[in-house]
Amino acid sequence: MPLNIICSATLPSELLRDHLLAIPVGAGGKLPLWARELPYDLRVGSEKAVNSPAFTGKVGATLVVPSGNGTAILLGLGSGTPSAETLRRAYGSLVTAARRDKFAKVAAPLATGRDAAQVAEAATIGASLANYRFDLYRSDTTRDKIPPTVTALTFFDPDAGRRKAATKGIESGATIAEAVTRVRDMVNTPANDLTPKAYAGVAADWCRDAAVKLQVLGPREIQRAGMGCVMAVGGGSVNEPRFLIANYFGNKRQKKRIDVVLVGKGVTFDTGGISIKPWQDMWEMRGDMAGSAVMLSAICAAAKMKLPLNIVTLTPLVENMPSGTAYRPGDVLRSLSGQTVEINSTDAEGRLILADALTYAQRFAPRVVIDIATLTGAVVVALGDVYCGIFTDRDDLARLAESASGQSGEKVWRLPLHEDYDDKLATVVADLRNSAGREGGASVAAGFLRKFTGGYPWLHIDIAGVDLDKTGHPYCPKGASGFGARLVIDMLRQPLLARLVTSLGVQSTRKRSER
Ligand code: BES
Ligand code: MN
Ligand code: ZN
Repeated sequence: MPLNIICSATLPSELLRDHLLAIPVGAGGKLPLWARELPYDLRVGSEKAVNSPAFTGKVGATLVVPSGNGTAILLGLGSGTPSAETLRRAYGSLVTAARRDKFAKVAAPLATGRDAAQVAEAATIGASLANYRFDLYRSDTTRDKIPPTVTALTFFDPDAGRRKAATKGIESGATIAEAVTRVRDMVNTPANDLTPKAYAGVAADWCRDAAVKLQVLGPREIQRAGMGCVMAVGGGSVNEPRFLIANYFGNKRQKKRIDVVLVGKGVTFDTGGISIKPWQDMWEMRGDMAGSAVMLSAICAAAKMKLPLNIVTLTPLVENMPSGTAYRPGDVLRSLSGQTVEINSTDAEGRLILADALTYAQRFAPRVVIDIATLTGAVVVALGDVYCGIFTDRDDLARLAESASGQSGEKVWRLPLHEDYDDKLATVVADLRNSAGREGGASVAAGFLRKFTGGYPWLHIDIAGVDLDKTGHPYCPKGASGFGARLVIDMLRQPLLARLVTSLGVQSTRKRSER
């Protein structure tokens, strides 16, 4: 059940009966003025609590204050004006504490200081994402092992102007949180239920709900289109491939031009194929479609927020299985681009299906193309579960990603893209091969993708490692993180992107050698 969030004028005193009341505390360690109006025992209890060593006041620190007149909880905001990330963490911790103590309803003042819409958006995102729960596969015997969710969150703020702005922030925050939640659900859903065909059904529901147009190509159409790589990778499974094309036209000035193409890797399960993976962590590969879920939920969020852009999302969906019909090491595939690829490892399948999708993107003459994929183990070795890797020839796109990252809190680190890595992809019988050793694996994979991009400005995001959160964070319970959805949505919202899109001609990319 989604979290119902509203903003009211004052703290309605009757809320104290069944709501958990948050009292945000900044670095000074002082209670806010409004807390003086609380019932006597709650006020005294809060004053004691705020000075007790049990409350650190650090961002996201909490301390429950019980009383005969309701329950309050101190909520640390750290020092200075809280950033968006501080707000997400603090309100996320609040919801986590409420769930732990089984409060279904929470009341909290809107943090003061910054733009009320931004505050409300960040608080909504943090609270909603901390409220995440995936219990579809639990029977009554263990369903209650996951903390219950919060059903209602009431912000309060005495200023009518701020309340009005907050309503906007709650709305955009809810749209963004929904996008992240959808990615988490898809990544957590096991591959026995999420075949390419089943996935296409879910995508159709999302697109209908957001008035995004969706076209689903089946195996025969994929074959006819010439996507030899998608067909080969999907060929080992009885669950046949699909190729999704979603579009949203929101640019009122340029009605036809495609501003952005979003491409996402959709491997519903990656066994490695004939180059089969060891069993230990193979189960994680049910999440190898995270990139596709990010790009589909992002285009739907963009449509709901009515962003002034024309966007296409492309997602190849395949299951990478070993079988009598599977592709093999040594096979040579003909990609949609016409380039032939010798298979070195059938486990380097993501770049193959992305290659065809990136080639397909050329027909839209897009101003910018962004792809996102759980692509390489090498990026996990390099960056762990904290940063994702970004790769681009263009400093302006790197800057765009970095500035969106600052907003969303999803960390990005630029890794090299250089033609010297491409030497590793040379082979004797075909135009190139799909993998090469372990060294520099993330950059080699990015270099492979670049061979299929054509001239358009392009950014590649490798989210292997960050798609799963194995420990849990203030607004991410253990499990799928949904990483990438907020980053991509914030890239689409950046004024920098709109400027980039208008200043870019399709042919305007300089040759690499000129840089
Ligand atoms: N889906 C994997 C990458 C991956 C690894 C994602 C760990 C999430 C966590 C990808 O298809 C893969 O198998 N990559 C290989 C490529 C290699 C064979 C060149 C890898 O990185 O080991
Ligand atoms: Mn693989
Ligand atoms: Zn994979």
